[in-house]
Amino acid sequence: MNILLFIFLFFTTFSSSSTLISRQEALGGFKPCVGTFPNEITTYGLTPNPIIIGQMGTVHIAGKATVPIENGALYNTTLFHENQVIHQHGHEFCQMFVIPNGSTCPINGDYDFTINFPTESSTNDPVNISVESDARIHIINPDGNILSCIEGKITFQYP
Ligand SMILES: *[C@@H]1O[C@H](CO)[C@@H](O)[C@H](O)[C@H]1NC(C)=O
Ligand SMILES: *[C@@H]1O[C@H](CO)[C@@H](O)[C@H](O)[C@H]1NC(C)=O
Ligand SMILES: *[C@@H]1O[C@H](CO)[C@@H](O)[C@H](O)[C@H]1NC(C)=O
Repeated sequence: MNILLFIFLFFTTFSSSSTLISRQEALGGFKPCVGTFPNEITTYGLTPNPIIIGQMGTVHIAGKATVPIENGALYNTTLFHENQVIHQHGHEFCQMFVIPNGSTCPINGDYDFTINFPTESSTNDPVNISVESDARIHIINPDGNILSCIEGKITFQYP
């Protein structure tokens, strides 16, 4: 084989796989859901990791609103255990991320938000154990259009 062609192939293969890895790192181990969604999420991260139940957590989300994120859009978190939905929570995206960040909806183009959130503990919670759940996050406009979807695993530490 022509050595230059080989080097070219080697570097294109290497750089495309490292792009994939850095994309997954930027998504904190999450990845885009299968399907086509208009608004790419480029950064997602939860801290601390694992999330400690009963303490504040921080979520960082950034992406591109190709379709404007309207007032009333939902940020839904669905948790699964063995493919069964065990928890679903809908928050208003603008109330949760945009207003605390000092901005207003609709959101057009690039966005980058970091917010703190409380985690709910209850007296039925297990003690001193960590639980890993499969999670899916959707951003849904009030007209029902699912703008973004990422999925991955979230670990919760019960103190
Ligand atoms: C989003 O959450 C709301 C409120 O929990 C729920 O009614 C709705 O069906 C959810 N939508 C999706 C696509 O998960
Ligand atoms: C969110 O807040 C940060 C820090 O205050 C700021 O740099 C950033 O531009 C804000 N993002 C948007 C989309 O308003
Ligand atoms: C919590 O669990 C770990 C092992 O799972 C154990 O080593 C530790 O002693 C436990 N701590 C308390 C306070 O029970």
